[in-house]
Amino acid sequence: MPHHPNSNDPIGVFDSGLGGLTVVKELFMSLPEENIIYFGDTARVPYGTKSRETIIRYSREIVSVLLKHKVKMIVVACNTASSLALDVLQKECPVPIIGVIDPGAKKAALSTKSKKVGIIATQSTVKSGKYAKRLKDFEPKVHVISQPCPLFVPLVEEGWFDHDITFRVAKEYLADFKKEGIDTLILGCTHYPLLRKTIARVMGSKVTLIDSAREVAMEVKEILGAQKMLRHDRKSPEHMYLVSDEPEIFKFRAVRFLGTSVKNVKRV
Ligand code: DGL
Repeated sequence: MPHHPNSNDPIGVFDSGLGGLTVVKELFMSLPEENIIYFGDTARVPYGTKSRETIIRYSREIVSVLLKHKVKMIVVACNTASSLALDVLQKECPVPIIGVIDPGAKKAALSTKSKKVGIIATQSTVKSGKYAKRLKDFEPKVHVISQPCPLFVPLVEEGWFDHDITFRVAKEYLADFKKEGIDTLILGCTHYPLLRKTIARVMGSKVTLIDSAREVAMEVKEILGAQKMLRHDRKSPEHMYLVSDEPEIFKFRAVRFLGTSVKNVKRV
């Protein structure tokens, strides 16, 4: 199907569920004029424990839904889908499609002085080795230590950002990083930016926390700017949320990720 995007077309963003709203929040700040269509695969979350084949299949289905909505660009806001499916999607997709790994890895490579970088992410993201590989592409001398933190996702979904239990879980997960003396830590999962305060409390002020959500929003702006595809329209922007499960649960929980309430949620 030929696809000729127009600068007023929406940006498509997808994630396994709610977490990708941290990227949407950054897009609202960097690109307040843009229309955004977000797809949250709430019926099939989590992706972080699933195989590459499954994640590729799910991601392809979502990309085709977004293309039907005439998106001009797609952001894979999920770290797990970015690690395991982005290379395949990039070969097939008729519009620019970017993930969250490269922007985060690039920022971390620039930030580290000790050349010791930590990565926290889901099991599937860590297992893929994608972050470590891209970090080494940007900074060959870097020493990378990775740690899956599966308990962080449910703690965030529960809204326990500063809870004592979350602090104790973080201390446990992050203990090796402290021993190794990393100076940069990549928050390699959509949910982790919401634990920034707790993670910073454990790691101390000398460790820089890299939030891929912020970096990817900057990259979207650069790409659209370079292609003269930024939206210029007097009408205020429209945002739409597509979910694969119950819209009410999504609406209720989305506020925590976005900081504002969401309207216009449809089940597909
Ligand atoms: N969105 C996923 C990620 O960024 C976290 C949740 C999941 O496992 O699906 O890796």
